Amino acid sequence: MVEQSSEPVEFFKRWFEEAARTEPSDPNAMTLTTVDAWGKPRARIVLLKEVDRRGFSFFTNFESHKGRELKGNPHAALCFHWKSLRRQVRIEGQGAPVDPAESDAYFATRPRESQIGAWASLQSQTLPQREVFEQRVAHYEQQFADREVTRPPHWGGYVVEPDMVEFWYGANFRLHERMRWDRHGQTWTSRLLYP
Ligand SMILES: Cc1cc2nc3c(=O)[nH]c(=O)nc-3n(C[C@H](O)[C@H](O)[C@H](O)COP(=O)(O)O)c2cc1C
Repeated sequence: MVEQSSEPVEFFKRWFEEAARTEPSDPNAMTLTTVDAWGKPRARIVLLKEVDRRGFSFFTNFESHKGRELKGNPHAALCFHWKSLRRQVRIEGQGAPVDPAESDAYFATRPRESQIGAWASLQSQTLPQREVFEQRVAHYEQQFADREVTRPPHWGGYVVEPDMVEFWYGANFRLHERMRWDRHGQTWTSRLLYP
C-alpha cells in the first residue's frame, strides 16, 4: 500500500531505509537519464549519495557524457528499482552541480585508490589500451606521493531537484499501485495513476 505523506522526499526516505535492509547490494543504485543536444536520451547507473529537501545527489566526472549533457540540458530522470520489495521510484527534475565545498568534503572521505582514479580516468572518452589508464594511475600516484589527494576540478556532485516523484508498488494480481507527486513551487500535490 502506498501511503500518503505530506512530502514525497520524506516518503522516499522511508522506502529507501527499507530497501537498505532488504536489497542484497547497492540499494542506492539508480538509473540516471540525461539527454544530448539532439534530444537523444542516455541512461546509466549511478549511486545516490545523499537525499535531502534539495534533492537527490550523486558524484561523477563533470566532463563525462552525463556531465556534458547536464550542462547543455539540466533535465534529468532517475529511476530506482528495488527488486525484492517489488518497488520502483521515478524522479524527474533538473540537475545542477552541488556546492564545491560539498564535493571537496565527500571526495575527502573516498578511499585513496578512488581519489587517484578520479584524476586518472577521462570518463567516457576512448581508452586506446588498458595500459594507458594504468600509466595515468601510476602518474597520479607519483604526483600525490606522501600527500593528500585533492579533488580534481572535473569531479564532483550533482543534485537533481525533483519536480515529479512517482512511487510504484507491485501488489498481487497486477493491481499495482502508482502514486504521483508534482511540485508547484514549494508545495506538492499527489494523485493516483492507473497502473
Ligand atoms: C552499480 C554501479 C554504480 C555506479 N556508480 C557510478 C557513480 O556513482 N558515478 C559515476 O560517475 N559512474 C557510476 N557508475 C558507472 C556509470 O554507470 C557509467 O558507466 C559512467 O558514469 C559513464 O557514464 P557516461 O559516459 O554516460 O557519463 C556506476 C555503475 C554501476 C554498474
